[in-house]
Amino acid sequence: MHRKLDVLADRGFVVLRDYDGPAIPPKEWESLDFVDWKSGGDTNFAPLASANGEMECHGFWEHGKPDKGGVWTDNRKIAPTLVDYVEAIGGNFGRVRVIKLNPSEEAQALKQLHVDDNNRLNPDGSGWVVRAWLELADSPGKSTFILREKSDDPATESRIVLHPGMQLVIDTERLSHVVHHPGPDPRYSLITSWESDDTIDTWIQSQLPAGEGAAVR
Ligand SMILES: [Fe+2]
Repeated sequence: MHRKLDVLADRGFVVLRDYDGPAIPPKEWESLDFVDWKSGGDTNFAPLASANGEMECHGFWEHGKPDKGGVWTDNRKIAPTLVDYVEAIGGNFGRVRVIKLNPSEEAQALKQLHVDDNNRLNPDGSGWVVRAWLELADSPGKSTFILREKSDDPATESRIVLHPGMQLVIDTERLSHVVHHPGPDPRYSLITSWESDDTIDTWIQSQLPAGEGAAVR
């Protein structure tokens, strides 16, 4: 058994307030070194933190560790505001990456619905690893997160229309997920793996939209 967050118990995701910290210059995500890594469509990923600080996106289990205790890569020098954002939250992060998602049709996106492998090698008794998103750049056609409790059952679906600055946390090992991004420009988003612990719980509570704090616990 792992520790899980009460705030995710009901739906498996929570939409937070928009990011309101220091402005993040677009060059921080546009100038990163990306690697060709396919997950959830036509994607490239820029690793900001990896298992051992190398410029690669593999699961931490390939290095014998669970998806936490991430080590900053050389990309940290290119994106100091993104690094500060993660470090200010202060929890135990694993993979930290910027995704660059190229446009697709909705039917193509739905074929990419998947669950993540976040908790391999994560020992019983420690916190369940979930993922947080900070949306960085969109284009006029709105991106939409598609989440399903059962991947083949649209009746279990939630859709979240995304916009830059949006923050959300998803248990992506529970919910099948994909983003439909119509484009025409790429969508960029910061994705961080977090261990469920007091720090991340407190941070989520601090970021809930006004009036939602008591209702969701
Ligand atoms: Fe995923």
